[in-house]
Amino acid sequence: MLVQIVPWGSPRYIQSLGLRFEVLRRPLGLVFDPATFLDEVNDIHLIAHYKDWVLGCMMLSRVEEGVKMRQVAVGHSEQRLGVGSEMIRFAEQYAKEMGFKAIVLHARDSAVPFYLKHNYELVGDGFLEVGIPHHAMRKSFVD
Ligand SMILES: CC(C)(COP(=O)(O)OP(=O)(O)OC[C@H]1O[C@@H](n2cnc3c(N)ncnc32)[C@H](O)[C@@H]1OP(=O)(O)O)[C@@H](O)C(=O)NCCC(=O)NCCS
Repeated sequence: MLVQIVPWGSPRYIQSLGLRFEVLRRPLGLVFDPATFLDEVNDIHLIAHYKDWVLGCMMLSRVEEGVKMRQVAVGHSEQRLGVGSEMIRFAEQYAKEMGFKAIVLHARDSAVPFYLKHNYELVGDGFLEVGIPHHAMRKSFVD
């Protein structure tokens, strides 16, 4: 398995849109909206793949605090095999090398244990996003 940054609009990015829909949107009854992807042109797109098979994906968006980790998804049948952890490791190394001071994210409550395991801290109270409970989390790279 390899984790790589891929360009917006590339074949692997397009494949990741399908994965995101299946893992993040379809289970919530949300539709596929191609227009939203135009907003992602300036984001950093990470893909975990084995040959041509996209196993997982995430996005990093530049924000005031550092980067925001978004759209983290691993294929249903590839979950709990270490793919998400590998993407986290890659993203953290990249963020540190690029001089970002922190990674922030909005975690679905079901995924909070995953981020806690990777030493992300809970920030503030929970809230609803896309109709489901979330918590803000953060990992700082400076003291
Ligand atoms: C959450 C997600 C990204 C984690 O990726 P993954 O590849 O499945 O996770 P890993 O195999 O690297 O997990 C490492 C550890 O994190 C923890 N973990 C991962 N998913 C977990 C979950 N759903 N609940 C509790 N702990 C979890 C476990 O401690 C796990 O180790 P273990 O399998 O030995 O117990 C993935 O399961 C996923 O896409 N879930 C559905 C979509 C989602 O919730 N995305 C995040 C939105 S914020």
